[in-house]
Amino acid sequence: MMANATITGWGRCTPPTILSNEDLEKLTDTSDEWITTRTGIKERRISHVSTSEMAEVASLRAIAGAGLEPSDIDLIILTTCTGDTVIPSPATLLQAKLGAVHAAAFDMNAACSGWIYGLHVAGQLIRSGLHQKVLLVASEKLSHYLDFTNRNTAVLFGDGAGAIVLEPTDSDEGLLSSTVGTDGNAAPLLWVPGVGTSGDRYQSEDRSQYGVLMDGPEVFKRAVKAMVAAATEVVEAAGLKLEDVDLLIPHQANVRIIDATARRLKLSEEQVFVNIARYGNTSAATIPMALTEALEDGRVHPGDNIVFAAFGAGLTWAAAVVRWGSRVTPLGASDAELPPYAGDIFDLVDPNVRFFGKGV
Ligand code: ACO
Repeated sequence: MMANATITGWGRCTPPTILSNEDLEKLTDTSDEWITTRTGIKERRISHVSTSEMAEVASLRAIAGAGLEPSDIDLIILTTCTGDTVIPSPATLLQAKLGAVHAAAFDMNAACSGWIYGLHVAGQLIRSGLHQKVLLVASEKLSHYLDFTNRNTAVLFGDGAGAIVLEPTDSDEGLLSSTVGTDGNAAPLLWVPGVGTSGDRYQSEDRSQYGVLMDGPEVFKRAVKAMVAAATEVVEAAGLKLEDVDLLIPHQANVRIIDATARRLKLSEEQVFVNIARYGNTSAATIPMALTEALEDGRVHPGDNIVFAAFGAGLTWAAAVVRWGSRVTPLGASDAELPPYAGDIFDLVDPNVRFFGKGV
């Protein structure tokens, strides 16, 4: 029997500084009431460190949880759309920080669907026998691209990281099925202008040239449709029925998108994991962050059929089914922590105040 890829370690990193809805009321024309009822978000974290530093902490926790050392890892996939650098790739910064000297490292960017895209690829690299210990990380610092005076997007996003370790198994567990999809014609519905080689050669000082732009209602409709179709497809491909799903861990972009998706899949509240109230949308990181919380909260049991589903800029979408193994507790713990931040939350969201983590 061909080995399958199973999740043996998991970890997350949530930056310590909270930006509440009440804080946002001071920055833009919005209200706690509007944000809570339209999105389900109450607060989000804003990072004072770089994307790769959050990735490092989440990764060290995942690696220790798998009972491994960084030098055991043979491949690192970092899924992010908010990496510290363009050259070199942020994955290489992470590899150096971890001391993962035997690992090749590369990035993937499929926006909010990135982590499931990474699972899709990593699963096959393990099945083929090419890799044995893969670290799959999602780390995002979307606050860097937000204009906190633009209420259309400032209220939705946050920063954070999540990581897993994948290893081969001969048991009837692990990644049972996955699917990925893209509609590049819909790209203008959600994008960050002015960044990349299509933007100004020298980064504009004008913040209106910058920031996440989005047609929210159109993305909303397409998100529900794409997640329902992708989740249905992977459940069927895994030889399961929707009633066999123990837990859906969806991308956390808007609680109304999650509710509409769950309703169409006929899943009950107990079958869906939601933590958006505390973190907002951390793009590719929402699902691995939610997975680690679900494990800590006792929501994942040995042998559970877990469905992941996501959509994001591109537009991209993806879904996967993982049958959980026998272990729901980590083998080891890491004492890795972010450095504390003693400053003011409003400095972290002020474009005129620049924060550099330890960086490269
Ligand atoms: N505070 C107060 N009022 C607001 C805010 C705000 N933050 N934002 C919009 N409004 C107003 C609008 O101006 C509008 O007012 P009007 O009726 O006077 O014109 C009203 O609220 C309703 O606006 P809609 O945009 O129709 O509100 P909707 O219910 O669709 O919610 C939202 C907007 C939350 C953006 C929703 O459409 C959504 O979640 N869409 C999906 C977005 C998403 O998930 N994006 C992330 C993709 S992941 C990635 O890859 C990065």
